[in-house]
Amino acid sequence: MKNILTLIILIIIGFLIFIYSGIYNIAATEPHTKLVLWIMHTTMERSVKTHAKGINTPTLDESLVKTGFDHYSEMCEGCHGKPGLSPSEMDLGFYHEPPDLSKGFEWSPAELFWIIKNGIKMSAMPAFGPTHKDEELWSIVAFLKRLPDLTPEEYREMEKAAQGKTR
Ligand code: HEC
Repeated sequence: MKNILTLIILIIIGFLIFIYSGIYNIAATEPHTKLVLWIMHTTMERSVKTHAKGINTPTLDESLVKTGFDHYSEMCEGCHGKPGLSPSEMDLGFYHEPPDLSKGFEWSPAELFWIIKNGIKMSAMPAFGPTHKDEELWSIVAFLKRLPDLTPEEYREMEKAAQGKTR
């Protein structure tokens, strides 16, 4: 029993020395090890799936897609891209890089809603819940479901239509 206690105290002291020494490289240019990447990714994925359980998805009809596009082009496109556009200089400097959502994703509508509303800790993904109503967030989900099927031309048409109207 005494030996286990000594071991635990030594591990805690080891951790504190590691943290305070500053030897850990926090630079975004220094990739995580495979183990840390696995821990972060799996924790994120499992957390989203667990927390999104019980969220009821409303009917996401076509009329929401345009509103969702307006929000996406204003708030998300800069990080998550659009059809036919290669990643921006800022995207390439992120660690983790924001995924290009126009290339598809495997989240359900409820999971997308949860991610957009709450954001993701220890990443650049902001929470939009504090500044947006649930209806607005669902419109972004409606647009995201369409996004991977849009061609660059169709996206440009939506941009033109949005520029033509006063917000
Ligand atoms: C400042 C950059 C930034 C902005 C703005 C941003 N995101 Fe993100 N987003 C990220 C990053 C970085 C991740 C990756 C997080 C991770 O994997 O830990 C992410 C992850 C996501 C994911 C999960 C994707 C996946 O497959 O892992 C979704 C969905 C998402 N964002 C949607 C949105 C939407 C919708 C908006 C706009 C309302 C938005 N994001 C705005 C940076 C951003």
